[in-house]
Amino acid sequence: MHPSLFLLLLFPLSCTTFYLPTAAAASSLPESSPLQTMPAISAPFEHLDPTLPPAFTGQSPKCSVLALRHHFAHTLGSPPASTNYTHPKGCPAPWTRIVLELSASASDLQKDRVAAVWIDGAEILRTSTPLPLAPDTYWRVEKDITQYTALLTRLVQTNGTISMMLENSIAALPGIYSVNLTFHFYRGAVAAAHDARSLGYAAHPTIKSLYRDPADLIVPISHEKGYCSSGGFWFRIDNALHVPTAAVTIPRNAYRAVLEIFSSYHEADKSWYTNPLRSSYLQDHAGFSAGAANGGFRQVYATIDGRFVGGHIPFATIYPSSINPYFWSPVTAIGAFDMPSYDINVTPFLGLMLDGLPHKIGLGVRDSQPYWLLTANLHVWVDAWSDSLEGDLVEYIAPELKISRQAGWMSEDGQSEVLAEGLMQFAGWVSSSNGNLTTRVIQKVKFKNQVQVHNRGTFSQVEMVNKEQTTVEVSKERQVLERLQLLREGPLQVQTSSINMNTMGGPRLERTRMYHQLQETVNLNRNQQAATTSTLIDRQDAEGSALMRGGSAEWGSGDTRSIYKYRDERTCYQRTMNTKGGVIVADSTSPSCSSVADI
Ligand SMILES: *[C@@H]1O[C@H](CO)[C@@H](O)[C@H](O)[C@H]1NC(C)=O
Ligand SMILES: *[C@@H]1O[C@H](CO)[C@@H](O)[C@H](O)[C@H]1NC(C)=O
Ligand SMILES: *[C@@H]1O[C@H](CO)[C@@H](O)[C@H](O)[C@H]1NC(C)=O
Ligand SMILES: *[C@@H]1O[C@H](CO)[C@@H](O)[C@H](O)[C@H]1NC(C)=O
Repeated sequence: MHPSLFLLLLFPLSCTTFYLPTAAAASSLPESSPLQTMPAISAPFEHLDPTLPPAFTGQSPKCSVLALRHHFAHTLGSPPASTNYTHPKGCPAPWTRIVLELSASASDLQKDRVAAVWIDGAEILRTSTPLPLAPDTYWRVEKDITQYTALLTRLVQTNGTISMMLENSIAALPGIYSVNLTFHFYRGAVAAAHDARSLGYAAHPTIKSLYRDPADLIVPISHEKGYCSSGGFWFRIDNALHVPTAAVTIPRNAYRAVLEIFSSYHEADKSWYTNPLRSSYLQDHAGFSAGAANGGFRQVYATIDGRFVGGHIPFATIYPSSINPYFWSPVTAIGAFDMPSYDINVTPFLGLMLDGLPHKIGLGVRDSQPYWLLTANLHVWVDAWSDSLEGDLVEYIAPELKISRQAGWMSEDGQSEVLAEGLMQFAGWVSSSNGNLTTRVIQKVKFKNQVQVHNRGTFSQVEMVNKEQTTVEVSKERQVLERLQLLREGPLQVQTSSINMNTMGGPRLERTRMYHQLQETVNLNRNQQAATTSTLIDRQDAEGSALMRGGSAEWGSGDTRSIYKYRDERTCYQRTMNTKGGVIVADSTSPSCSSVADI
């Protein structure tokens, strides 16, 4: 037996970081309750994401507009909540920065839910609620949405529509989610969005480099009947063969385009990154459903007129109820409040779309199981000095990823592994008033997901390595004008030892240790000037126990250590936060990194 497990079993009541429900609390909750109240928590209780620097600048916005206010009680199967937007006078475009603030609360216990926000059918935020462990839970998400300026400008001009989807049910648990969505518009000398000194942009430094100036036009790739459909604007993807499409016509003077994909995963794929690989033994025994056992590899990708134009292996954002829910209270897992979106520079393919005719953009997920929710935004930059442009695709190297899958299981024990590796390269030119520019996109991928189970099913380890290097090169007459290199890594390791509390199939006490990390390095070289480099390291280490029954945690405890560090030539921002048993025990922020003890 694991030594610490032994201790916990002997002295569960004396362990202050353990929350044992009182008998009354336990019996007043319905059978399906995923978690019990944490008696040590006094309401109201704030959840927070320690891994995002503040999006606000410290200056006052020119105006702040409460765009949507809604209570999500029983919204399963309903269309999104929508409202017509009205903009105040005296706060005209252009704005130097726009920040979205989502302020929300849960009245009582509830499951965690995935939600999204759209402007006229174009998604601007994919988010997860926390898992409310106590009544009166609240949290805030701030996101710099300056890159969606085109959507906001049109929203203001046309009194467009803001929508939010948060499918909730109060049948099993009473919690009602209340949400306020506010836009903050800044004018004047706020640090410009592409200025490295603006820490607001540091949260997702890749945005800074890929978007530079916001696009002139953003075309939603989403469900066209979203306002009245029970699935909202989301495309639901149930398997690897399903590639929903949207027909889009882009202006004939477009010279640059980036496709941004939003995704989330549900049901059988809710924690796809820990799925073992299918083998006949696992299907017949060991309690793995045939569905869940197809391995921990997924790739989100896009097509234009049926042709693959690029993809990404998603970062494994851990939902608040996944692994051990007590790790994610009060801190959320990396990216849970602002789930990463994935950019594909599709400029090499623009030449095929400049004919003024509709083209089909498709979205898919390799190896997916029910179900994934996807949408995308096509960010388009147009040449105001030209009416129509010419272009062509000149290089298309897109071999299938080399994937090897191996599984060996004996009784409950064994291991499985999925390895993936690949290189793709696309190039195309567009001739505009900027000149005849060729854009070349090169992407290298290296991925490993390994699941091991030992000791008659009582010890398991999941290890994931996900490395991706993307290079975007813009050249004119064979001379490179700009070179952007982005290296992204997302390692994950989860070790779990468990013991059955009485009989097989009964409750199990699981002790888990894990870490995960998002690391991004961006190198930008423009006009032969010295390269600028930025590095982001976002890491969480967590350890704790949970009593699991039927896949849900009944009680438990967790300690989580979060470290966020962003550095470029001019700035360094660091925040560390430690939590023990649901309480923040240390929190330090440094805008310079020097005053924080090295970690
Ligand atoms: C928004 O405006 C449109 C047209 O003016 C109207 O038909 C619709 O009912 C309005 N929607 C809401 C939610 O007020
Ligand atoms: C939403 O705004 C209203 C009015 O300003 C406020 O009373 C309420 O507490 C807010 N709710 C949340 C969840 O922030
Ligand atoms: C938008 O709403 C405002 C205020 O209700 C109104 O004055 C304006 O005419 C509307 N604009 C459009 C394009 O409908
Ligand atoms: C643009 O450059 C490409 C190769 O660099 C060339 O093949 C193409 O003809 C050029 N287009 C125009 C309109 O000059």
